[in-house]
Amino acid sequence: MSDILSQLEQRRAAARMGGGAKRIAAQHSKGKLTARERVDLLLDEGSFEEFDMFVAHRCTDFGMEQERPAGDGVVTGWGTVNGRMVYVFSQDFTVFGGSLSETHAQKICKIMDMAIQNGAPVIGINDSGGARIQEGVASLAGYADVFQRNIMASGVVPQISLIMGPCAGGAVYSPAMTDFIFMVRDSSYMFVTGPDVVKTVTNEIVTAEELGGAKTHTSKSSVADGAFENDVEAMMEVRRLIDFLPASNREKPPVRPFFDDPARIEMSLDTLIPDNPNQPYDMKELILKLADESDFYEIQEDYAKNIITGFIRLEGSTVGVVANQPMVLAGCLDIDSSRKAARFVRFCDAFEIPILTLVDVPGFLPGTGQEYGGVIKHGAKLLFAYGEATVPKVTVITRKAYGGAYDVMASKHLRGDFNYAWPTAEIAVMGAKGAVEILYRSELGDKDKIAQRTKDYEDRFANPFVAAEKGFIDEVIMPHSTRRRVARAFASLRGKKLSNPWKKHDNIPL
Ligand code: HXC
Repeated sequence: MSDILSQLEQRRAAARMGGGAKRIAAQHSKGKLTARERVDLLLDEGSFEEFDMFVAHRCTDFGMEQERPAGDGVVTGWGTVNGRMVYVFSQDFTVFGGSLSETHAQKICKIMDMAIQNGAPVIGINDSGGARIQEGVASLAGYADVFQRNIMASGVVPQISLIMGPCAGGAVYSPAMTDFIFMVRDSSYMFVTGPDVVKTVTNEIVTAEELGGAKTHTSKSSVADGAFENDVEAMMEVRRLIDFLPASNREKPPVRPFFDDPARIEMSLDTLIPDNPNQPYDMKELILKLADESDFYEIQEDYAKNIITGFIRLEGSTVGVVANQPMVLAGCLDIDSSRKAARFVRFCDAFEIPILTLVDVPGFLPGTGQEYGGVIKHGAKLLFAYGEATVPKVTVITRKAYGGAYDVMASKHLRGDFNYAWPTAEIAVMGAKGAVEILYRSELGDKDKIAQRTKDYEDRFANPFVAAEKGFIDEVIMPHSTRRRVARAFASLRGKKLSNPWKKHDNIPL
């Protein structure tokens, strides 16, 4: 008996060595952790339960039958993050470069199926050279099986992808269908085709970093939602994110203990808005002052900075925040910010996370670049996302809410539950200058007359009261009491039930 037990230990030890000591050392020399080290850091200590440790590939081409490492290049299983269950797969670059074989795919599919059935997030740690070349179409089939599960899991359980090495080909399309993608600076890349192929086909000479590094994907392409300095920080930050999220669409987001008075008064907010309406201010200051313990988990921080998206807690409950940022492009909505915010709103709605919208928007960004790029269709994404969302929606207009952008930003008309405005709010079809130039074109030569017209317009519209008279604004609130008002509003909406008419699915303008 003791022989059998020790044989098991030997087999386990061999499986834990993956591609062997030399390749593990090579992985470490690149500043990367191994697949198992990553899982250990991600999960609560001692909580990991592994599946399929002894699975080996079945390929017999190219002499592959000679080398059949246990586990086949991916570590899979489940464990807990701060006591809450998650499923995880972690690709082992030391085994055939983490490439995906038929059996490697089956291991991933197994835990994804369990995650969907049991209602727990899937965290994928990707470090893979893509399809296992020796397996040909069997590997492509394996990818498609994973893709199909990504699609089935979408909106059912949160799916988080970490890109922690060179990910090429099929290795990028599975992450692309998950809810969040995070990269590690200087050691992770994502591309459909690498620099060599790019050079052959398009004659472009580009480094892997320029083509698909963290900076490219967090600031240019928006493929990735964030980037971290190293593997350790990546694991810690994903643990932090999991704490904000519900385990599945069958559960409410977790409520954490909080040590911050929901009625906390912030007198400094009374002077947040500058006297000059054209002067910017930092909307993040408002978010931090509203949040429990100033804890804000920002999503897509480096992309479309004219809109801010992320998670906070109010009275311990998760709230998704969407906020115009007057510091960038005066807070205008454009193609990129509309896409960014629409995706975030849809994530929140899919997982029953209430949405707080902070509005200071002078309108949609004009110009040929925007129109040719399809701002009509992309702007409509955000409009559509807000309109279809049935979660509690609380909106605070701090300053400008002009034109179509007023409608889009979770207005009363899109089923906003509480629509508040600060006394500094200006709700109108457009700003005074633009309006007067259109309405009084014939008087444009007369400066005094135009100044009077502008003043008249401002007196009439540069305030929240016209909208409040119509009931489009539920209440004009003091900036200093915003946390209390918003927290009470969300508390009152905890029992909200609203459903949309039955349909197979909608047809959001993609
Ligand atoms: C089998 C692979 C492999 C692959 C790497 N390896 N990629 N084995 N299939 N796809 C093996 C290498 O032979 C090597 O084995 C080990 O992994 C490490 O690879 P290196 O090249 O030494 O590492 P590095 O220099 O860090 O380069 C990593 C890399 C490069 C950038 C990922 O290996 C690479 O370009 N690989 C091919 C990428 C690719 O074209 N994949 C197919 C994409 S098509 P040893 O034994 O020496 O340790 C695809 C189609 C799916 O994925 C489409 C679905 C939509």
